[in-house]
Amino acid sequence: MHRREIGVHPRNCVRAGTVGDLSSLIRIDEIAQSSANRRAQLEQALVSGQCFVALENDEVIGFITLSYTFFDCGFIPLLVVAANHRRKGTALRLLRVARKQCRTEKLFSSANRSNFAAARLFAKAGYVESGRIDNLDLEDPEIVFFFGGRVEDRVR
Ligand SMILES: CC(C)(COP(=O)(O)OP(=O)(O)OC[C@H]1O[C@@H](n2cnc3c(N)ncnc32)[C@H](O)[C@@H]1OP(=O)(O)O)[C@@H](O)C(=O)NCCC(=O)NCCS
Repeated sequence: MHRREIGVHPRNCVRAGTVGDLSSLIRIDEIAQSSANRRAQLEQALVSGQCFVALENDEVIGFITLSYTFFDCGFIPLLVVAANHRRKGTALRLLRVARKQCRTEKLFSSANRSNFAAARLFAKAGYVESGRIDNLDLEDPEIVFFFGGRVEDRVR
């Protein structure tokens, strides 16, 4: 991972997650606390090296996962920041790391239409809307987002 993203202080950085981070991820992610499927998804992302965690004073305060099963393109299935650490730019930092780590040219993510925070976040990070998937959650379609930034931004 780029030194620039790691930052000067290793206690405040974004780094690759390890299986030892699983309990921290579950603490942050409410869904993981009640869903065994979600816990398995997190563990799989950690084991495969496709989870990156944001630290503040050595505490895990957020994470992002990457996968490549969406039409063979990079996809961000999960991005969660601890409720008491939001609106400090952590999700933007995690999105930047995911963009740099992503090994495909195209990078997508998605969120429910009702998720106003996610829509604002993706817009601020340079993503554009790229379609809609109905019939997942009742009356709350899934909006697909595509990173439309410059290719040079992805490989620096
Ligand atoms: C969405 C989420 C990841 C944002 O994390 P965050 O660290 O608070 O986001 P940031 O601080 O990087 O926010 C960057 C920008 O996104 C937008 N944004 C983030 N949260 C917002 C909110 N609640 N309302 C409106 N805009 C919001 C703002 O434009 C913000 O910039 P600003 O603070 O200068 O106005 C966080 O709220 C979260 O974990 N939500 C639950 C899980 C989820 O919905 N994940 C996304 C779908 S995969």
